[in-house]
Amino acid sequence: MNSDNTVNTTDNNSNLRPDGSKKVVLSGIRSTGNLHLGNYYGALQKFVKMQDDFDSRYFIADLHALTTNPDPKALHESVKQILAEYLAAGLDPDKNILYVQSDIPEISEMYLLLNMHVGIGELMRTASFKDKARKALGIKSDSEEIEKEIIGNQNNNARVNAGLLTYPTLMAVDILIHHADYVPVGKDQEQHLELTRRFGRRFNSFYGVDYFNEPVNFNFGGEALKVPGLDGSGKMGKSEGNCIYLIDDEKTLRKKVMRAVTDAGPTEPNSPVSQPVENLFTLMDIVSGKDTTDTFRKAYADCSIRYGDLKKQLAEDILKVTLPIRQRILDIRDNDEYLSKIVKQGAERAREHAAKTLKEVREIMGIRKI
Ligand code: TRP
Repeated sequence: MNSDNTVNTTDNNSNLRPDGSKKVVLSGIRSTGNLHLGNYYGALQKFVKMQDDFDSRYFIADLHALTTNPDPKALHESVKQILAEYLAAGLDPDKNILYVQSDIPEISEMYLLLNMHVGIGELMRTASFKDKARKALGIKSDSEEIEKEIIGNQNNNARVNAGLLTYPTLMAVDILIHHADYVPVGKDQEQHLELTRRFGRRFNSFYGVDYFNEPVNFNFGGEALKVPGLDGSGKMGKSEGNCIYLIDDEKTLRKKVMRAVTDAGPTEPNSPVSQPVENLFTLMDIVSGKDTTDTFRKAYADCSIRYGDLKKQLAEDILKVTLPIRQRILDIRDNDEYLSKIVKQGAERAREHAAKTLKEVREIMGIRKI
């Protein structure tokens, strides 16, 4: 394990617990629209790679999606869409437990219980909370005064809902209820994982038990990925509007890539690379591989680069990944009977694990029948 509490290993034994059982992998994605390349490389591709060697359980975080108040119809569609995308990307319902978070009522109950051990201060200091709170209140700047803004805010139409604050508690429950060993997620989720470990430790020490273990991220010999968007700024994200979706058709995808933000081009040899262009190089590293990027990096260094060529190559390589997935999504997503059979089977299996943990947690906390 390295200092980030991440396992970077391909060690054959790393998938077994000391008792010989397979280690438990747990992860999920919020159902707030279609999955994009950031979800794919940050999470989904790791899920698929882990399904053969671990006791893996993957879910659709529809309760988490509620924190940003989606339209009910859109939420429902998105849950179905993401399930279809999980399957299309290669997750096998017989190798994994695939379920929808809200199908497991034990999660909601344990969320209430764990909240008793979570401080509102630590929740308010979470980076993702501050971001979302700023968005909810329409504050643009990195204002450090966000706590004051939240408390002083009298506008009920622009409130920061309590679900947003307790988002990390719910996420910790998702993980702890399975006693997960590994939680494959992108870099942006590492702070939430850190909180999960902290809440688990706190529970153990408060009750004097050795009950929860400490889950860690999992990366195959690399670092947690941050997939940049096409707009020249930060990471790819639904709310940033800079995404390439797995469901994008060929024309849409090419158009998006060709329109990606660049700069005026290098005028002197070996100039530093601007952020927008560096982002495209990073995307290319991820999708096409370093060899391809190196050619363009060299061309950048000697000023012969043509961004049009870079983008054409990038679009081509992305399409190789996404088009087959897109086709499978289209084949699956309207097959309601098939999808509901899968989530039903997943819910049954997930609930067995969840019910056991909840029963034990209740007992540890002193909630018993008189
Ligand atoms: N917060 C995660 C995201 O936005 C989704 C998530 C919810 C999750 N619960 C989880 C991820 C538990 C891993 C484990 O991507």
